[in-house]
Amino acid sequence: MTILDGKKVSNDIKDEIKQQVDKMKAKNEKVPHLAAVIVGNDGASLTYVGSKVRACERVGFESTMVRMSNTTSEIELLDKIDELNQNDDIDGFIIQLPLPPQINTQKVLMAVDPSKDVDGFHPENFGKMALDMSTFIPATPFGILELLDRYGVETKGKHTVVIGRSHIVGRPMSILMGRKGFPGNSTVTLTHSHTKNITQITSQADIIISALGVPNFLKAEMVKDDVIIVDVGITRVPDETSPKGYRITGDVDFENVSKKASYITPVPGGVGPMTIAMLLKNTLLAREQRM
Ligand code: GUN
Repeated sequence: MTILDGKKVSNDIKDEIKQQVDKMKAKNEKVPHLAAVIVGNDGASLTYVGSKVRACERVGFESTMVRMSNTTSEIELLDKIDELNQNDDIDGFIIQLPLPPQINTQKVLMAVDPSKDVDGFHPENFGKMALDMSTFIPATPFGILELLDRYGVETKGKHTVVIGRSHIVGRPMSILMGRKGFPGNSTVTLTHSHTKNITQITSQADIIISALGVPNFLKAEMVKDDVIIVDVGITRVPDETSPKGYRITGDVDFENVSKKASYITPVPGGVGPMTIAMLLKNTLLAREQRM
């Protein structure tokens, strides 16, 4: 069994990005600048955005965190997006999700200039991705592809089962694993809350990508020997023994499933750090496209 070590690989990617930024600095070129907008006080979202800003510092990017109150109106957020679209110093930006209920997420994501949409959530970029055109690929699916690529995990002709159809992970992942190319060329089954007899499906899978958000959902009895497991779950589970009062738990019963798996991502230290590294990569791409 091989651990797909997202922490290590993401550090390698960040080192590679930093080298490119150092070259830009040596030539007196503008370095990439990422902005992240966060609306409200959700603890997990604040943690993620904080990590994204720290990652920018580590590779030498400029970063701006825009904090807006929980009562922000849709118009106020759209005005802020317009400002970021117009601001020539900002190469790319993200609107951290989820947004409070008074704001229409789809409307907000459509307001982002596609050339600055480093999350790849705008319909123009999502459509390009589905049509195999070069574009920003959403950071989590992009990170999973990169992790499979760097470990040389074969995906061609394999049966990949994706659990969860979110716009951020499951849906794009199902498209990317089925596309022509590497990683890809899989036969993909996309499962979701209305899927019947999921064990029958997961037990036939060569590769399982779980993005459900239900701790320890995937048990050893649900998978076959030598399965490849990518666990995207990051649920905070109360834990009095931890200083933070919680621990991060994946969708997969790691202890037992890992005994049957050929490759598996841990939580934490698997997909999570890869997401951040690929957001940086998209931001570097955005800067290069603006030169
Ligand atoms: N919320 C959970 N994952 C993501 C992500 O990749 N990007 C943004 N903007 N929000 C998220």
